[in-house]
Amino acid sequence: MQPVILHTKRMELSAPTEADIDQITHICQDEDILKWTTVPSPYSRADAEFFVTQIVQPGWESKVALTWAMRQGGDLIGMISLTALDESMYELGYWMAPIVRGQGLMVEAVQRVADYGFAADGLNLGRIEWHAYVGNAGSASVARRSGFTYEGLLRMEGLQRGKRHDSWVAGLLPTDDRAEKPGWPA
Ligand SMILES: CC(C)(COP(=O)(O)OP(=O)(O)OC[C@H]1O[C@@H](n2cnc3c(N)ncnc32)[C@H](O)[C@@H]1OP(=O)(O)O)[C@@H](O)C(=O)NCCC(=O)NCCS
Repeated sequence: MQPVILHTKRMELSAPTEADIDQITHICQDEDILKWTTVPSPYSRADAEFFVTQIVQPGWESKVALTWAMRQGGDLIGMISLTALDESMYELGYWMAPIVRGQGLMVEAVQRVADYGFAADGLNLGRIEWHAYVGNAGSASVARRSGFTYEGLLRMEGLQRGKRHDSWVAGLLPTDDRAEKPGWPA
């Protein structure tokens, strides 16, 4: 499929391109992104180039991974993606530049991407799944405020650069409302 452009109140979401490589490299030096995601560490310009040309572009073509750069006034401020786990279930992933955190922008992007995913012709999404390593309170807040239901702790489910971690898992269904659900870890 062709990359899709989405708009929210405060952002444009569009596929990252080669013009974004320097900014992605810069943001991915952030220690929280390195700590809580599977991006390579240390993160080099070649890693950003690989991401854009070997993950983002083929991902859209095959529908295996739909990746959007979050943009504000032309600046790339974050990344959000849906990656296929099977033919009708995708995993949500995201990171945000430290300088713009804490403004609810990630929740805004998640809502828009979920709306798109559940409505898109040809995706047939029956579930969006969220995983985070246990302790990632920022990511859990985003999923909770986006209406995901906390479903449990999966022992040693996460694999990050060869090391396994316990994961929290949550899900969002097309029939769910987006109100916050009880039961999230404190
Ligand atoms: C997770 C991340 C995207 C959140 O970005 P953000 O801009 O703070 O998100 P929002 O502004 O939409 O915040 C949503 C909620 O998260 C809360 N939050 C953000 N960071 C937090 C933290 N470190 N600890 C606790 N709560 C946090 C915010 O306070 C807000 O909650 P509130 O509305 O109840 O106050 C950002 O911290 C990040 O990029 N982290 C590193 C990468 C990462 O963890 N990715 C997810 C992997 S599963």
